[in-house]
Amino acid sequence: MLLKDKVILVTGGSGLLGKAFINNLKEKGAIALNLDVNVKTDFSQDEVFCNITNDASIYKAIDSILDKYHKIDGLVNNAYPRTKDWGAPFEQITTASWRENVDLQLNSYFVITQAVLKEMRQNKAGSIVNIASIYGVVGNDFTIYEDTAINPPAAYSAIKGGLVNFTRYLASLYGKHNVRVNCVSPGGIFDRQPETFVSAYEKKVPMKRMGNPDDIAPAVSFLLSEEAKYITGQNLVVDGGWTAI
Ligand SMILES: NC(=O)c1ccc[n+]([C@@H]2O[C@H](COP(=O)([O-])OP(=O)(O)OC[C@H]3O[C@@H](n4cnc5c(N)ncnc54)[C@H](O)[C@@H]3O)[C@@H](O)[C@H]2O)c1
Repeated sequence: MLLKDKVILVTGGSGLLGKAFINNLKEKGAIALNLDVNVKTDFSQDEVFCNITNDASIYKAIDSILDKYHKIDGLVNNAYPRTKDWGAPFEQITTASWRENVDLQLNSYFVITQAVLKEMRQNKAGSIVNIASIYGVVGNDFTIYEDTAINPPAAYSAIKGGLVNFTRYLASLYGKHNVRVNCVSPGGIFDRQPETFVSAYEKKVPMKRMGNPDDIAPAVSFLLSEEAKYITGQNLVVDGGWTAI
């Protein structure tokens, strides 16, 4: 029970990775709250409505959690809002779309992180995990997308790369308050993508398979726990070796 009674917020906890994060946190004894735009607030189900792209919604969700639990021990920034044209070919991306995605994904992470850090600083304890990506660390290998309709979005690389270094800024600033801030960067997660893509991905990645949500979740729980009490400002890449070659 590594995380017994720790109050941990997971944004986007209804999604592919978020569900696995919540399950793993609960297995380790945490009160893992799903902050998602697709749920209604119901503490008996550990669900809190939160639209991370709306500042007022973030503040309301945090206030309701503090009213109920009087503390926040951990935050996992995982939600994944994006525009309808996400994945458009590079030369067709409009400036408005680029700006909106940076706002939805990166700026929203700033707002919720700032609000939670104020609380953690007062408690002199806390751990934040930002979910980044291998594409915040290395460039894309476009050969794996050949013969598929998938276009890895350029904004994703900019946003995740920014998130990795924002994490280091926060780690440096809040270390003296006993608040740790780290990233977990997953590799590609299997989600019934086209067969051509999956086999190209498997051919390249050293472990010869795509990741699964339960490959990533234990790394998140570890960084939130006291086992990681001297780890801050790091990017734990969980990618079957993708970025090792
Ligand atoms: N799936 C992958 O292969 C992969 C790989 C590397 C990194 N990641 C990262 O992992 C994170 C989760 O990805 P996923 O694949 O589970 O995504 P997903 O689309 O399955 O889930 C995203 C979740 O975010 C929620 N959400 C969307 N907009 C929101 C908003 N405005 N406010 C609150 N919640 C909102 C959705 O309701 C959903 O539950 C993302 O940050 C993504 O970049 C994913």
